[in-house]
Parts: sequence; structure tokens; C-alpha cells
Amino acid sequence: MTLLLPGSFHKTSICSGPKSDGAPPMTVITTAIDMHRTIAQWRAAGDHICLVPTMGSIHAGHLALIARARQLGSRTIVSIYVNPTQFAAGEDFDSYPRNFAADQDAIDAAGGVDAIYAPAVMYSDTHATSIVPAGVAAPMEGISRPHFFTGVATIVFKLFQHVPADTAIFGEKDFQQFAVLRQMVDDLELPVTVLAHPTIREPDGLALSSRNAYLSPSQRQLAPVLYQTLRHTAANILAGAPIASCLDNATQRILAAGFDKIDYLDLRDPEELAVPSTAHPDHRLFVAAWLGTTRLIDNCALGADQP
Ligand code: PAF
Repeated sequence: MTLLLPGSFHKTSICSGPKSDGAPPMTVITTAIDMHRTIAQWRAAGDHICLVPTMGSIHAGHLALIARARQLGSRTIVSIYVNPTQFAAGEDFDSYPRNFAADQDAIDAAGGVDAIYAPAVMYSDTHATSIVPAGVAAPMEGISRPHFFTGVATIVFKLFQHVPADTAIFGEKDFQQFAVLRQMVDDLELPVTVLAHPTIREPDGLALSSRNAYLSPSQRQLAPVLYQTLRHTAANILAGAPIASCLDNATQRILAAGFDKIDYLDLRDPEELAVPSTAHPDHRLFVAAWLGTTRLIDNCALGADQP
């Protein structure tokens, strides 16, 4: 078994030791140079390479992205890196759940991937260049968390340099993030196709998220109100009720249920994320709301077929 070293183009480290249960080893790659070598071999063999970028804390939502990636490509890579630049000072970077062994086990139990890319470091001490997205990055998260999309776009751009995949898959739970990355890929003409995969939900409707682990039992009971309210509001808007009063009622309903604060609750079109004046089944409701110190986000199309 090789020593794991920080991610860089100059050091080399592939770890694929035998597993105790005798199953084939899952390759863990920690440097860009090894990732490039591995991908070059796969490409030469005619493989289509799919990347699922994550910050670890793997749950069924990530596993659904991985399953989709396995359907689309002949090689699947999951990257695991908790990106410091998408957290502002005072946010949960330090407490963000990190458990590489558990992540590896979860991926393994769901059928495995061809490689996990787990760089220790993605930024040099002198790093000073960022991608600052505008357009679809401006509203909603762009107002509540102004640092966020610069951090996301910069790290995903860097991940695409380290892991030159043909396709990358992101969850619709972070729909605005997906829209920002789609715009980045178009604007910078990156040779990768980005796809969105539907949100995976608990049976009570709560969207799966690593941050759900922060919820107390009573907050966890309250949390599904967010999606229930989105669905209820979507039905009313599609039935012709005035959009502004529907959004107002939704805000009141979420706060009355026990949420502490709402950052935004908006109806947007799925392409430009502009505010539409009419209802269309493809238009999406977006919400970010706080239960104590935990911030939850969710979104859905008005015409979504999920209950
Ligand atoms: O959605 C996430 O988990 C992260 O924002 C991403 C895309 C992996 C970038 O760090």
C-alpha cells in the first residue's frame, strides 16, 4: 500500500491495497499526475469517463449520482474534497463531516467505482486566481452567500483540470450550483458535459444532504415542512393563484411551522434563473431556510412528478 500524499502534479500516489473481505480493491488516487496517467490509459482503451464531484459524507443522494455515472460511462470516478473556499468565515468548514473510511465503505457497498480521487490539497499557499461567476450566480445563494459560487466554480474548474472527465454529474438539490457550473462550462468552453440528477429524498420528502446530520430530533421532524410547502405552493401556482401571494403564504407557513429564518423563497425559470411573471411547469421554486444554526436549501419544478 502506497503512502497518501497531498494532491499535486509532481508527487505520485495511488493506493489500492487488498481489502479484508477479499473483494477487488478500490483505487484511491491522491495526485493529479496519477489521475492523468490513469485516465490516459482508460481513454486509450476507449472508455468514457464520468466524474461525480463530492465533498464526502457520502449518502444515498451521492450514490444515486454514482449509479447514474455508471450507466453513462465505462469508468466512474468520485472525487472527495472538502473545499475551503466555498465556506465563509464562521460557516461550517471545520465541523463539516469528514469520514473517508465510511465514505469508501458506502461507495463500495453500493457497487464501487473505478477510482476515488481524494487530493489532500487543492490550493498552493500562493494561490491567487479565482473564477467569479455572474449571471445565474447572482440571485438567491449569490446574495445570501456571496463567497460561495466563486469557491465552487474555482474548485470545480480545478477538479476538471485534475480529472479530465467526459461527463460530470451534479445533484439538482443544488440546482443553482448546477446552473452556475453549466454556465462556466459554456462560457469557458470546457470539454466536459455537465448533467443534473434529480434530488433524492427521505420518505417524508426531506432532501438528502450532509447537513441534515446537524439537525436535532425535533428539528428533523420539522424539516420536511420545507418540501411539503414547496409542493403545496407549486400546486397553487399551477392552479392559477397569484404568484406573489402564493410565495407570501409559503413564507408564513414555513415560519409558522418553526423555521427560524428564510433567506429566500423564489420562483425562477430553470435556464436564466430570472423571475417569471407567469406559471410554467418547468419553472422552479427555490428556498433556503434556517432551523437553528442549520441552513437547509431545496427546490423543485412546479410540475415535478414527485409527490
Ligand atoms: O456540491 C458539492 O458537494 C460541492 O459544492 C462540490 C460541487 C463538490 C464542489 O466542492
